[in-house]
This record gives sequence, structure tokens and C-alpha cells, in this order.
Amino acid sequence: MTQPIVTDRLYLRRFAVSDAEACYCNWMSDPEVTHFLTWDVHPDVEHTRKVLTEWVREYSRGSLDWCITLRGEYVPIGSVTAVRQHPESGYCELGYCLAQDYWDKGYMTEAIRAVTGYIFTNTPYRRIQARHEIENEASGRCLEKSGFHEIGRFVRDNPKTGRPCMYRMMSVDRPSRF
Ligand SMILES: CC(C)(COP(=O)(O)OP(=O)(O)OC[C@H]1O[C@@H](n2cnc3c(N)ncnc32)[C@H](O)[C@@H]1OP(=O)(O)O)[C@@H](O)C(=O)NCCC(=O)NCCS
Repeated sequence: MTQPIVTDRLYLRRFAVSDAEACYCNWMSDPEVTHFLTWDVHPDVEHTRKVLTEWVREYSRGSLDWCITLRGEYVPIGSVTAVRQHPESGYCELGYCLAQDYWDKGYMTEAIRAVTGYIFTNTPYRRIQARHEIENEASGRCLEKSGFHEIGRFVRDNPKTGRPCMYRMMSVDRPSRF
């Protein structure tokens, strides 16, 4: 289901195993990027290669998983992925991250908008959700700018630290034009 998406400044494409070195160097080894994520920094590029091999395999099973690149360049700088799919309930949930050199330029907002438009056009999902730690204000902000609104807050143990964390669940419904 993952097909390329072109926006004003970005080209979203499938990951390839050959992206491993760039993914590892650009963000998968950066603790600033993984701070709020469920996974920890990759210990080495071999680990990244194994992860990407699995992601590439998942495309044939209907995964929605984009590698973010700048238009005209092939280099991976981040990802937007449907980390949970609930076809029986008509919704999926996004996860996303971006290499630190590219933060605060509006890139993730552009990517999330593009991916939500793609999902509403090309899949049966009627709703897309995303959650973020309350403290991760940049994440909440780019969801708001992409048309998501808050549908609830909940406390859950952080899977990495084991400590309770407040999360905000955000949601956007398929507009009637689709
Ligand atoms: C969160 C993340 C995806 C944002 O990507 P980005 O491309 O920098 O986002 P955008 O530039 O589109 O928008 C960021 C917004 O947050 C704001 N922002 C940035 N840092 C902030 C902070 N510490 N507090 C409040 N707002 C902040 C920016 O000003 C901008 O809002 P504005 O356009 O209204 O000024 C990126 O920082 C990232 O990958 N972080 C690490 C991984 C992660 O946390 N992923 C999300 C897990 S839920």
C-alpha cells in the first residue's frame, strides 16, 4: 500500500535495505531523536540493516511506512509510519521522526499532511490517530498544524523508562470530499 508521495519540498518513498548507513548516521543513532520514542538508539549499523530488512518485508503485508527525503535528493532524513492498523475499526495510528538537522523547518508537518491525504485517498481508513508525550510539544504542534485535534489524555508507563507518562491522543477524520 506504500506508494511514493511528492510534496512541495519532500519525496516520500519506500525504505530500502541500502538506506541503512544513512538512517543510522542521520537519526537512528541519535539519542535526541529517540528520547520520546518507544525504541532506543541502534547500537550499530548492522542493527539498522536488520530493522530495515524487516520493514522492507512488511511492505508485502500491507504496511504503510514512508522514508522521508528532500525532493531531488535520495538521502533518508526521517520516517512516517502507520505503527498500528485497526482495519476492523476503520483507523490507524501514525508514528514519525526526523533527523535533528531538519527540525523546525516545517518538514514533518508537510510529511504528515501528505501521508494523511494519501491514507484517506488510498485506504479504507476513516480516521487517523497519533499519540505524543505531553512534554513533546513539537510533536503535538506538528499534529495540530496537520489538522489533528485532541481526543483524550491518558497516563501509561513509558515503555523505555518504566515511569508513568502523560500522553495526548490526537485524531483527524477523513474529510467528506474523499
Ligand atoms: C517532533 C518532530 C517530528 C517535529 O518535526 P519538525 O519537522 O521539526 O516539525 P515542524 O517544523 O513541522 O513543526 C514543529 C512545531 O513545533 C514547534 N516547536 C519546536 N520545538 C518546540 C518546543 N520545545 N516547544 C514547543 N513547540 C516547539 C515549532 O515552533 C513548530 O511550530 P510552529 O510552526 O507553530 O512554530 C521532530 O522534532 C522529531 O523528529 N523529534 C524526535 C522524534 C519524535 O519526537 N517523534 C514524535 C514522537 S510522538
